[in-house]
Amino acid sequence: MMDKLGVAVIGTGFWGRNHARVFKELPMTELVAVCDIDYERANTVARQFGVKAYTSPGKMLRRKDIEAVSICTWSTSLAKEALRALKAGKHVLVEKPMAANSKCAEALLKCSESNGLLLTVGFLMRFIPGIQYIKEAFMEKRFGEIVCATAKRVSQWPERIGDVGVVKDLAIHDIDMMRYLFNENPVAVYAKAGSLRHSKFEDYAHIMLTFDGNKNAFIEANWLTPYKTRTLVITSSEAIIKLDYITQELSIERAKESVQPRIPWQEPLKLELEHFVNCVLGKAKPLITGWDGLMAIKIAEAALKSSKTGKLIKIRD
Ligand SMILES: NC(=O)c1ccc[n+]([C@@H]2O[C@H](COP(=O)([O-])OP(=O)(O)OC[C@H]3O[C@@H](n4cnc5c(N)ncnc54)[C@H](O)[C@@H]3O)[C@@H](O)[C@H]2O)c1
Repeated sequence: MMDKLGVAVIGTGFWGRNHARVFKELPMTELVAVCDIDYERANTVARQFGVKAYTSPGKMLRRKDIEAVSICTWSTSLAKEALRALKAGKHVLVEKPMAANSKCAEALLKCSESNGLLLTVGFLMRFIPGIQYIKEAFMEKRFGEIVCATAKRVSQWPERIGDVGVVKDLAIHDIDMMRYLFNENPVAVYAKAGSLRHSKFEDYAHIMLTFDGNKNAFIEANWLTPYKTRTLVITSSEAIIKLDYITQELSIERAKESVQPRIPWQEPLKLELEHFVNCVLGKAKPLITGWDGLMAIKIAEAALKSSKTGKLIKIRD
């Protein structure tokens, strides 16, 4: 029998439960334990998957049979728990936004590098099969050059999120995606964000990223729209490419034809965790690094600064 990688999940709320399920389903992982500061939550998920429940991450991380962990706690405690796991010698997949601020994200990156441990960030959108199709097509120059990309990520206020605003919670997916598609960091950011219903954080944001050579990306994110939309439209020198992240439908429109490539639907979380495990086992190179996570946070912070000051904020690597 092949040796399985021992894994655990910290934070078993809405999203952590899915990590635990996928780890249980993957043939190359052995879900060993789960942890949540809320005993009921930890226990429910542990019982569902027949593993041990912990309420203390430190205690769980002392186990030698855990080699890698997913961190799925509240956004403001992700960095603290990821750092704890790295210091305990575990490979880490930390959920987005990786940390509440860039200072904490930098500390994570440093710790993973000095300990020679894998650190990756849960930018799930990169694992949508249509995105991989688009990325490959651009690399092979089948769509020409990207001129502009527009992302829309809007829905209702999610009751369970309340520790970061819509930029670090939702728009960060698209910030990462634009870096990935344009294959570089933006030169500058201009944004306007505001709060209509929620007092503590912004609940809507419009972000413009400018890239070298007059190429631009626009991101609209809010928690004010009664229905959920997650879309990407890319204008390239040869085609208009449209992706619906929810249905995974892709369409490519050219001057003389329009095609919808048939790409079978796949669960992005399964692809993401499978890839994480393959990276830990040395079978793959990480698609998303701690550096990608840090840059996305820096750009999100620049967007918030731009909105506050009314100025264009330059991005430094
Ligand atoms: N990549 C994606 O597409 C995606 C989707 C959903 C959520 N997320 C991210 O996953 C994280 C969790 O989101 P959620 O919707 O599951 O939230 P949630 O509130 O449902 O769950 C968070 C859980 O973490 C627990 N927790 C908090 N601090 C902890 C700590 N220090 N140690 C152990 N447990 C702790 C809470 O008790 C709670 O059960 C967030 O950072 C969110 O941004 C990512």
